[in-house]
Amino acid sequence: MGGQLAGKSALVTGGSRGIGRAVALRLAAEGALVAVHYGGNEAAAGETVARIVEAGGRAFGVRARFGEAGAVDRVFEGLARGLAEHGAKGLDILVNNAGISSGSSIGQVTEEEFAMLMAVNVSTPFFVVQRALPLLNDGGRVINMGSTASRFAVSTQIGYTVSKAALEAMGPSLANELGRRGITVNTVAPGAVRTDLTAGYTAVPEIVAGLEAITALGRIGEPEDVADVVGFLAGPQGRWVTGQTIDVSGGTWLGPIAAG
Ligand SMILES: NC(=O)c1ccc[n+]([C@@H]2O[C@H](COP(=O)([O-])OP(=O)(O)OC[C@H]3O[C@@H](n4cnc5c(N)ncnc54)[C@H](OP(=O)(O)O)[C@@H]3O)[C@@H](O)[C@H]2O)c1
Repeated sequence: MGGQLAGKSALVTGGSRGIGRAVALRLAAEGALVAVHYGGNEAAAGETVARIVEAGGRAFGVRARFGEAGAVDRVFEGLARGLAEHGAKGLDILVNNAGISSGSSIGQVTEEEFAMLMAVNVSTPFFVVQRALPLLNDGGRVINMGSTASRFAVSTQIGYTVSKAALEAMGPSLANELGRRGITVNTVAPGAVRTDLTAGYTAVPEIVAGLEAITALGRIGEPEDVADVVGFLAGPQGRWVTGQTIDVSGGTWLGPIAAG
């Protein structure tokens, strides 16, 4: 398949569903070979891979449940196997997208919940980056999936907010470390996007109306709204952007919106 990412390979964590699936489809449509990582939903991962292959692209699944011992090893065993089967050399694009949310206020967060948020959203992606470094080709890309949760306060997501802020904090240091190899590192920070993660509140019309009312572009995001920005950063046109957090929220909570 031709395209701007022909000959490149990508690992998208959490590529089975939601934003990660849209990212996987987007990168594959540009010609990248995509490793579709997932935690346990084999059917969803299989569907992502099948949709890529049906469209003429190349992809394979990699299973590893973050938060379990040996998860990072399993990611890289599966990745190495898939890359070898497809004759790919090294990795060009790493998208750290897999993540979990939390609906707990400070008084409700348990140590177990906090530890899991940190394991899935922070420490696993951190060590995935560490293990990816020797594989990453010069000129590569690292894209971390942050959230507007680190920009504005939502008291019932405080543990999630802390985890996303920590993930985002990796960006500038990594960008400096990898810049001389032409590797860029950026964080994409979506606002509310319609996925399984947000189904609990995007099904409630009053909540959706409230979010639309504080969003300049006046709607909730779709996974493709985020995937297109990841695609830009992953491609040649994103080469001069590094160490940044890109807000991809349709302008959520920029300030008061005049009635009209
Ligand atoms: N949706 C939003 O409004 C929104 C806003 C800002 C940021 N984000 C961030 O965007 C990313 C994707 O969110 P989403 O809404 O697309 O979520 P989603 O629809 O719930 O999908 C989550 C993905 O992460 C994987 N995953 C979850 N827990 C895992 C674990 N313990 N180990 C390995 N993989 C695991 C899932 O794999 P399985 O399919 O195998 O379960 C799935 O592929 C997350 O980092 C999230 O924090 C989302």
